[in-house]
Amino acid sequence: MSQSSISMKGGGYYSKNTQGAKHVIDRAGENLIPKLSGIQLPGDQRPFAIIDYGAADGGTSLGLVTSIVQAIRQQSTDQEISVTYTDLPHNDFSSLFRMIHAQSPEETTYAREFSNVFVLSAGTSFYNQIVASGSVDIGFSATAMHWLSGLPGTITDHVHAVGAHGREWQVFRDYAKNDWETILVHRARELAPGGVLVMANFCIDEKGRYLGNTGDANMFDTFNLLWRELADSGLISEIEYQSTAFPQFYRTKEQYCEPFDDPESRVRAMGLCLEKAYTGVTKCPYRAEFDRVGDPIAFADAYVPTLRSWSETVFFGGLDHSRPMEERRKIVDIFYQNYNNLVRNEPELHAMDYVHTYMVVTKET
Ligand SMILES: C[S@@+](CC[C@H](N)C(=O)[O-])C[C@H]1O[C@@H](n2cnc3c(N)ncnc32)[C@H](O)[C@@H]1O
Repeated sequence: MSQSSISMKGGGYYSKNTQGAKHVIDRAGENLIPKLSGIQLPGDQRPFAIIDYGAADGGTSLGLVTSIVQAIRQQSTDQEISVTYTDLPHNDFSSLFRMIHAQSPEETTYAREFSNVFVLSAGTSFYNQIVASGSVDIGFSATAMHWLSGLPGTITDHVHAVGAHGREWQVFRDYAKNDWETILVHRARELAPGGVLVMANFCIDEKGRYLGNTGDANMFDTFNLLWRELADSGLISEIEYQSTAFPQFYRTKEQYCEPFDDPESRVRAMGLCLEKAYTGVTKCPYRAEFDRVGDPIAFADAYVPTLRSWSETVFFGGLDHSRPMEERRKIVDIFYQNYNNLVRNEPELHAMDYVHTYMVVTKET
């Protein structure tokens, strides 16, 4: 499975259906905004550079970027600022630019409101160096770096590494460890001296909780159960079942901190220092709305699309490529309809709470 299987739905669908992700970014920003008062600005030597790694359509970070730009403007009315949105090459950058450069006269965004702010994008993976060395003042990334650089192996009896065991799990774990160091080494090159990197990454927390597994139904077990059912009913083949896996790994906070704890690590040698790391749970806004209103159909119809926005390409990609496109679409539709039925029937079992490790990293001056 290649990185083209990693994709958020385009057309602005992503940020409209992932309100929880916005809450996470706003929380991560609480670490950043206070740091900006009194920050050393580059003046006319170069723009103050902000970069969002794995931005999708840019909608969920709009509030945070606006706050950063406002904070810089409080210190300097004319400091040039660049905002670079990065994602994989096939990301829907067109939606991103339409979002950032608000299209209707009634809407406004920081890009319209403030002058001397330059909006750029890069379709380069965060597994590569994306911008010039020493050029980034603020980097941030939310809910993106659990996507691995590739699919490390197969998981024969589950669809996610959280359900893998033994050797199959170890292969994912080793791959994820190497990927994490690669990400940090590139960020170490890109950050300017004194630059800050704020990240909110999916994790397994101290209580063993992770995305969609904080109480009742386990979301990835549900994905697996429903995918398994399609195999058992003959709608998909055993090979298709076994070759479907998320190219993801949820590290623990300790695993995120490993390269910083090791005084001999490349990451430390390149001047990256960990200022803080902590975990946090963000409640599922769809479930909260259900708890308030109590309508199971409305809950299922809102909740399942948010799952679908980031998982669909994985299930679609697991199907045999010789199947006609239309047939593959139908199978995936059935799969999500089955999920929808489960949620309608037992809504109180479902929720996709987010579990993140928040990290603040600085580059030595
Ligand atoms: C769940 S979305 C998060 C979007 C946004 N940061 C947020 O928090 O709402 C994950 C994003 O990471 C991107 N992504 C995954 N792997 C990537 C990589 N190697 N390089 C850059 N972006 C990547 C995906 O394409 C997707 O847009």
